[in-house]
Amino acid sequence: MNPYPKRKIRIETTKKTYSARYVEILEKWKKLPVWVHKEEFLKTLKENQIVLLVGETGSGKTTQIPQFVLEAKWLVGCTQPRRVAAMSVSRRVAEEMDVEIGEEVGYTVRFEDCTSSKTVLKYLTDGMLLREAMADPLLGRYKVIVLDEAHERTLATYLLFGLLKQTLVRRPDLKLVVMSATLEADKFHKYFTGVPLIKVPGRLHPVEILYTREPQRDYLEAAISTVIQIHMCEPPGDVLVFLTGEEEIEDACRRITRNLGDHVNVLPLYSTLSPAMQQKIFEPTPDQVRKVVVSTNIAETSLTIDGIVYVVDPGFSKQKLYHPDTRVESLLVSPISQASADQSAGRAGRTRPGKCFRLYAEKSFNELEKQTYAEILRSNLANTVLNLKRLGVENLLRFDLMDSPAPETLARALDDLYHLQALDDECNLTKTGEMMSEFPLDPQMAKMLIVSPQFNCSNEILSISAMLSVPNCFIRPRGEAQKAADEAKSSFAHIYGDHLTLLNVFHAFLQNNQDPDWCYENFINYRKMKSAVSVREQLVRIMLRFQIKLCSPDFNSKDYYVNIRKALLSGYFMQVAHLERTGHYLTFRDKDDQVVHLHPSNCLDHKAEWVIYNEYVFTTRNFIRTVTYIRGEWLVDVAPHYYKLANFPNSEAKRVLQRHFKKRRLSEERSC
Ligand code: CDP
Ligand code: MG
Repeated sequence: MNPYPKRKIRIETTKKTYSARYVEILEKWKKLPVWVHKEEFLKTLKENQIVLLVGETGSGKTTQIPQFVLEAKWLVGCTQPRRVAAMSVSRRVAEEMDVEIGEEVGYTVRFEDCTSSKTVLKYLTDGMLLREAMADPLLGRYKVIVLDEAHERTLATYLLFGLLKQTLVRRPDLKLVVMSATLEADKFHKYFTGVPLIKVPGRLHPVEILYTREPQRDYLEAAISTVIQIHMCEPPGDVLVFLTGEEEIEDACRRITRNLGDHVNVLPLYSTLSPAMQQKIFEPTPDQVRKVVVSTNIAETSLTIDGIVYVVDPGFSKQKLYHPDTRVESLLVSPISQASADQSAGRAGRTRPGKCFRLYAEKSFNELEKQTYAEILRSNLANTVLNLKRLGVENLLRFDLMDSPAPETLARALDDLYHLQALDDECNLTKTGEMMSEFPLDPQMAKMLIVSPQFNCSNEILSISAMLSVPNCFIRPRGEAQKAADEAKSSFAHIYGDHLTLLNVFHAFLQNNQDPDWCYENFINYRKMKSAVSVREQLVRIMLRFQIKLCSPDFNSKDYYVNIRKALLSGYFMQVAHLERTGHYLTFRDKDDQVVHLHPSNCLDHKAEWVIYNEYVFTTRNFIRTVTYIRGEWLVDVAPHYYKLANFPNSEAKRVLQRHFKKRRLSEERSC
C-alpha cells in the first residue's frame, strides 16, 4: 500500500513514483495546524458558498487550503497581495504535489504568466484576478476562489470582495474562501454577514519584547548593530530584520556580512529580488552558521520563514500615501501600526520561544496607530475607478466596499480620468478609456501609448514604458565601485533627461545582444533588462490587438526627440514642473502647486525651464524623479483641454503659458 496520502491530481496526471524531496517534505506539512481542521473546513465549504478562515501566520493556510479543495478537472485560484508571495508559494506547493511549476500548479503576476492548460491550482496577485474579472466578470474558469491575506486590506482585494459578492449570486456553483492572519476577522464577518468562520488556533511560542530606552536617530545603524549584538550575545537561532526597501536592505546585508563574515549567512528579501534568491531564504544553513534574513514587511505575514528566533523591528515600513489636495501619491517611509509590530514580533516564536528587539521606546509603541489604514484610503483611485467603470459598476459611491474612500479622492480620480479623456462629460467610459483599461499600467502611461502613433514614435514610447515598469535598472554599489558605476551611467545619459536615458539603455542592451556580461560591465541590472524586454513584448501584443500602429520617427531627423517628448507629455501632462525665478521648481497643475526638487539621480545637463516627471517622492524633501526637459509651448499644443488655466494658481508658469496661448492665437489669426 502507498504509505503516503494520495495526491489525486498528481497521480491522475503524471503517474510517476514520488520523488525523495516529496517524501522529505511530506512529514513536515502534515504537522501544520490547518490539517486538524481539514474535515471541518471541507464540510463547511460544501454547505456554504463562502467561508472565512482565520489562522496565525505559518499555520498552513496559503499552501494547504487550496490543495484541500483541489479536484483534477477544475481550477482553483488563490490570490496574494504580493507578487513574490504568489511566486514563492506556488513553487512550494508544486514541490509538495511533486509536479513541475507551471504545469498543474502555476502562478500569474503582472507581466508574467507561469501556467498552462494543465493548471488546476493557480496562485495569482489580487490585481491579476481583478484583470481577469474585467475580461470575464463571471470568472467562469474558476470553481473555487481563495482570497488570501485579507487582513492586508489591499485595494484589489477590497474590490474583489465587492465584485465577488455580486458574482456569487450569479454563479451558485462558485465557492469563495476568505483567509486572514488576524482576528480583525470581526470586520470581515460583518461585511460577509452570516458567513461561517473557522478559526485555526496558532502554535506560537512566547516572544519576549525588548524596547530601546531612547528613540533611535538612525534606525538602519541601530538595526545593524542590534544584529551584531544578537550574534555575539544570544544562543543559536536565526534572525529576521525588517527594513523598508531594496537599497537599504542591500546596504544592511553588505555591512552585516562585512562585520560578521562567514559566521552568518545574510540573505535579502524584497519584491524585485530574483526568484532564485527568494528561494534561498527557505534553505537551512549549516550548523554553526546563523541565518540573517533582511526583509521588507513581506516577511510579516505573506511568507513564513521557519527557524526565526530573533526579530529586529525598527518600526518603519514603506507605505503608500495619497493626498487628494495635492494629488500626490507617494511611497513614504512611515511608522508601522501596532498590529504590524505585533505580527512582526510573532515571527520570532514559530519554532521556540524568541525575542523581538523593537528599536524604539515603549512609549512610542503606545503612540502608534492601532491598525494600518486600508489601502483604499491611501491611494490615488484613478486606476481603480477606470477598472470599476470597465467592470460596469455605474455608481461608485454605491459599490459595496468595506471602507469607503474619501469623496474628494474619488472626485480627483474622476477628474484625472476626464482630463485623460477616458471619461466623457457624463462620466461614461470613452473608447480611449476602454482601451486604457486593457493595459496593466497606470492611466497616464496607457494614454501615452495609445496616442503615441500621432507623434510617430510608438516604438520608442513602448521601450520607455517597459523601462519605467521595471524601475531602477542602474546598479549603484556603495564604496569604491560607486564612481565607476556613475561613469557607466553617464555614458548612457541623455542631456534632455531620464526618459531618454532609459531609452538609450534599452537600445544599447539590444544592440549588445542582451549580453549579461555587457550588463555587468556597465552596472546595469541584467534581470531587470530581461523583464523590460518581456514587458515590452506584452505591451506590443496589446497594441496590436487594438491595431495601434507601431512606428518610429526618422532617427536623423531633428524632431526625433521632440516627437518622443511630446508623446510623453500626451500622457503625463498633469505631471509638469516649472523653474521659477527663485530657482525652485514648482509643480504646475490645476488648483495646486508644490515646491519640488529634481532628484539627484537625474541626467539633465542644466536646470530646464519646464520638466515632465514620472514620479513624486518624499524623503527628506519633495523630489520629482525621472525627469525630462520639455518646452512650455508644447503644453499648449498637446493638452490645450487641460491647460485652460482658469483653475490654475497664479504663478510665473501660468503667465508664461498665457503668453504662449496668446502667441498661438495670434499666429492662427494671421494664417486665417
Ligand atoms: O499561509 P500561512 O501563513 O498560514 O502558512 P503557509 O504560507 O502555508 O506556510 C506553511 C509552511 O510552509 C511554513 O512552515 C512555511 O515556512 C512553509 N513554506 C516553505 O517552506 N516554503 C515556501 N516557499 C512557502 C512556505
Ligand atoms: Mg499565508
